[in-house]
Amino acid sequence: MGVVASAPAKIILFGEHFVVYGEPAIVLAIDKRAYAKAELRNDKKLFIRSSNLNIAGIFENGNFKVEEGNPKEAKMRLEPLKCAAEKVLEISGEKVGLNIEVSSTVPVAAGLGSSAAVASAVAASVGALLNVKMTKEDVFRIAFEAEKIMHGTPSGVDPAISTFGGTLLFQMDTGFKPLDVKVDIPLVIGNTGVERLTRVQVSKVRSVRDKHPQIFEAILRTAREIVLRAIEALIEGDLETLGELMNFNHALLYGLSVSDESLEWLINSARKAGALGAKLTGAGGGGCMIALTDKDKLEKVLEAVQRSGGNAFIARKTDEGVRVEPS
Ligand code: PMV
Repeated sequence: MGVVASAPAKIILFGEHFVVYGEPAIVLAIDKRAYAKAELRNDKKLFIRSSNLNIAGIFENGNFKVEEGNPKEAKMRLEPLKCAAEKVLEISGEKVGLNIEVSSTVPVAAGLGSSAAVASAVAASVGALLNVKMTKEDVFRIAFEAEKIMHGTPSGVDPAISTFGGTLLFQMDTGFKPLDVKVDIPLVIGNTGVERLTRVQVSKVRSVRDKHPQIFEAILRTAREIVLRAIEALIEGDLETLGELMNFNHALLYGLSVSDESLEWLINSARKAGALGAKLTGAGGGGCMIALTDKDKLEKVLEAVQRSGGNAFIARKTDEGVRVEPS
């Protein structure tokens, strides 16, 4: 008998990249979830399989043996999950083997936080299986460790939102604060289908900062102002202003070279179809864009993004963070 846990994907509404330099970001959990099922094995091995990526492997005594898929890719994607499971095993004090199966409706490497959502779900499912008392803070910390293996120096924004859900204001030094957002935030998410690595995008921004420190400082200040104004707009339910702020935010990201042709194409088509604002979300360089839209224009914007080649869907905010699913 296994235990299943799930965690939501996310979009960054404002502040990606700038958050790495200590600025605030606003993130939203969306109604697409990653699932992990954990069960006990009769030996001490750790078997992990991702059903949608068709990869699987066994970790034993520090060694990895691929069972399915490309060995390099399997190791890269499964290693963080092994780390999450082992952290929970450490807390439990148990020395048991596990089978972990992950499945996800979240596109990978697209800026929707799939790796963090899967890591949170793994931590919660293993914890529940072994009856470990874990707070959401504990799950967050474990998913954050896993994310560090995947991304080098992540800000922690992804594991935070996939663990806590809702809308969060996130800042590296002060942590995260839930925002009480009452208004519905109708969004179209368009996936360019171009996969990219967050760490490569983060290093692009670092080179701009190293070359143009003063300009970069001014950009950071502007990014901060955008987030501060966006908090008010979110609380007031002022979608029109939010859309304008998203456009400003995207302009800054574009200036830092983290947008690309595939994103610009989808962003422009959304704006032309009447979106209130549109921007890339996450690390950029491909991945996803988001468009904020009046409810009555959702379908029109969705179709426009699809017609421009995006794999698009309508997303809703979810308040549910990581959770153990009823058996
Ligand atoms: O594209 P994602 O989901 O990996 O998000 C990256 C967000 C960045 O701000 C670019 C990096 C970070 O660690 O916050």
